[in-house]
Amino acid sequence: MNVAIIGTGYVGLVTGVCLATKGHLVTCVDQQSSRVAMLQRGETPFFEPGLDTLLRETLASGTFSATADTAAAVADAELVIVTVGTPTTEGGIDLTHLGTALNEIGMALAADDSYRVVVIKSTVVPTTTTRFALPLLEHASGKVVGQGFGLTMNPEFLREGTAVNDFQVPDRIVIGEYDARSGAAVQALYEPYACPKVHTGLSDAELIKYTSNALLATLISFSNEVATVCEAVPGTDVETVMDALHLDRRLSPVVNGRRVTPAILTYLRAGAGFGGSCLPKDVSALRHFGGEHGLSMPLLDAVLTINAARPQQVVDIVHAELGDLRGRSIAILGLAFKAGTDDLRESASLRLAALLLAAGAEVSAYDPIALGYAHNSVDPRIRIANDAPAVFAGSDAVVLMTAWPQFKDWRWGDLTTSMHTAVVIDGRNALRKVEWPSAVRYRTIGTAKAQHAVAAVG
Ligand code: UGA
Repeated sequence: MNVAIIGTGYVGLVTGVCLATKGHLVTCVDQQSSRVAMLQRGETPFFEPGLDTLLRETLASGTFSATADTAAAVADAELVIVTVGTPTTEGGIDLTHLGTALNEIGMALAADDSYRVVVIKSTVVPTTTTRFALPLLEHASGKVVGQGFGLTMNPEFLREGTAVNDFQVPDRIVIGEYDARSGAAVQALYEPYACPKVHTGLSDAELIKYTSNALLATLISFSNEVATVCEAVPGTDVETVMDALHLDRRLSPVVNGRRVTPAILTYLRAGAGFGGSCLPKDVSALRHFGGEHGLSMPLLDAVLTINAARPQQVVDIVHAELGDLRGRSIAILGLAFKAGTDDLRESASLRLAALLLAAGAEVSAYDPIALGYAHNSVDPRIRIANDAPAVFAGSDAVVLMTAWPQFKDWRWGDLTTSMHTAVVIDGRNALRKVEWPSAVRYRTIGTAKAQHAVAAVG
């Protein structure tokens, strides 16, 4: 099929390139001509494993192209997929970019009599497609939905770092449809993908996306609340508690005599808090949406409150080890919001850095990937180290905040010798199997240090 994709951010580019690998003729549209030029050269504007190779292959095979010309891309397309950003602000979801894109698409639809299907893939709160996108498209195109054009809502479920595989091997494809004709066009687009295709109304499709991310965030905050208990109660350890919890057969069923460990269990682990471009944004947007409808959302309130508190709880552990943090040198290991990505958005590492700086500490940081590709600039007071030895040298404590797998394999005994005081704080419980030299004080999250724990529960 001929497909136009409006917006070449994370979702748009992964969607476009992956659909092009299935033989669809995809044109990705972006307003920024520099980004278009970059894509035409076969360069991806962010780090995503496997994407650059597929981009170059599909460019070479002629199934992928990029342009800044929305009208031309829509003119050639049977399906127009909208993947522009929908950030959450204090006032709820910001539909500015979506409105601009839909207006341009509507005007392009007006240019001829062809029937095309508009696919909203941007994450939007329930009823946005019906109450915002539909009238805007009708107004700009002068056409009537269901007759002059079709309309669907098709949420994405891509994780940064594994987005290509998530797209190519989907769990399910949700097709929210205005009518059967619109839905059938999107069904045809995804014909090469063997997975359940769930046809729903437009608003259900919108809510499925938020429900999915809200559940993940809830599991993480639940685990972190258990960690908070463990941090106050000597003799408890959140890892021991969660390991045993996971063995409940309702969480990890035994099939044909073998225990299956579902990936969802990785979200039932304590850490320094969730981040990224999706979970915080989507939970906030859903909470705000509920508020607008007069609903109290106590669970989502708690999920965000618990998450907001996590970096401070890590600071409390640093403080428990070092005392007054003024003038102390703290090194943060990992700036990306999770391993496998260069994305710093809503990263717990940056929130920790801000808290440490506010406490008067000197902060340095090292990340194996995120620095080279950083989407956002970091506070200039954070000294960025180019390699691991540089971040350890002279520091009073190192705090692991992103569970990059390579950290486990470091020669910790050697690295810690250059520290001023050899304190290692593990904000992700990722280093528990390391054999620590006796000179190193290693502290995990979700465990209590006796003298502070007594104070905390007393
Ligand atoms: C998330 C969802 O997982 C995707 O299904 C969804 O499509 C995407 O948001 C989106 O809305 O676009 P992503 O933000 O890339 O994807 O990240 P996750 O891998 O889910 O990580 C989110 C947070 O959960 C991170 O802070 C991470 O540290 C934490 N996490 C992640 C865990 O605690 N455990 C894990 O196993 C994975």
